[in-house]
Amino acid sequence: SKYRIAVIVGSLRKDSHNRRLAHALTRLGAPEFEFHYPRIDDLPLYNQDDDGHQPAPVLRLKQEVAESQGVLFVTAEYNRSIPGVLKNAIDNASRPYGHSAWANKPAGVIGVSIGTIGTAMAQQHLRNVLVFLNMPTMAQPEAFIQNSDALFNADGSIGEVSRAFLQAWMDSYVAWVKRHNA
Ligand code: FNR
Repeated sequence: SKYRIAVIVGSLRKDSHNRRLAHALTRLGAPEFEFHYPRIDDLPLYNQDDDGHQPAPVLRLKQEVAESQGVLFVTAEYNRSIPGVLKNAIDNASRPYGHSAWANKPAGVIGVSIGTIGTAMAQQHLRNVLVFLNMPTMAQPEAFIQNSDALFNADGSIGEVSRAFLQAWMDSYVAWVKRHNA
C-alpha cells in the first residue's frame, strides 16, 4: 500500500520557491509515495480558548496529518526563523494537549531562500519545535538551498546542478519514513 506524505509548505505566496521545491522534490519520490498538500492558509490564529471546539480548518488539517505516514516540511525563512503561518499551523494541529496530530510522524525538513544560508536558521528553529512534538526528524543529510536560475528546469523539475544532491536527500527521506512505519 502507498505511503501518504503531508507536505507542509512554509510560504503562502503564489510563486513561492518553497512550493516549487516541494513539487519538484515529490517528483523524485519513490513510486509508493503519495504526496498531498494540506492547506494552512485558512487556519485561524491559534487560540487556546478553542481547544474544546476546534474550528473546521483545524480539524481538517489534523485529519490530513493523522492519515499520513510522514510529514515533509518545506519552509521559507523569515527573519531568521520559521514563518508565522507555519508555526500557526503547527500550534493549531498540536492541540488539545495529548491530541497532537504530529506525534510520532517521521519528518523531513528542507527549505530554499534567496540568501546564502538557505533557510539554515529557520530549519534549526523548526527542528527545536519538532523535537518537542515527538516527531522523529531526519538529521542527515541536511539541505540548505539557495535559489538560483539553475535550481529548476523550465518544466519545474530539479535542475542538473542540484539533481543528484536532492535525489540523495529524497532517497534518505523515503528510507526514513519507511523505517519509522515498519
Ligand atoms: C525574507 N527572506 C529571508 N531570506 C533569508 O534567507 N533569511 C531570512 O531571514 C529572510 N527573512 C525574510 C523575511 C520576510 C518577512 C520576507 C518576506 C522574506 C527572503 C526569502 O528568502 C524570500 O522572500 C523567499 O522567496 C521566501 O520563500 P518563498 O516565499 O519564495 O517560498
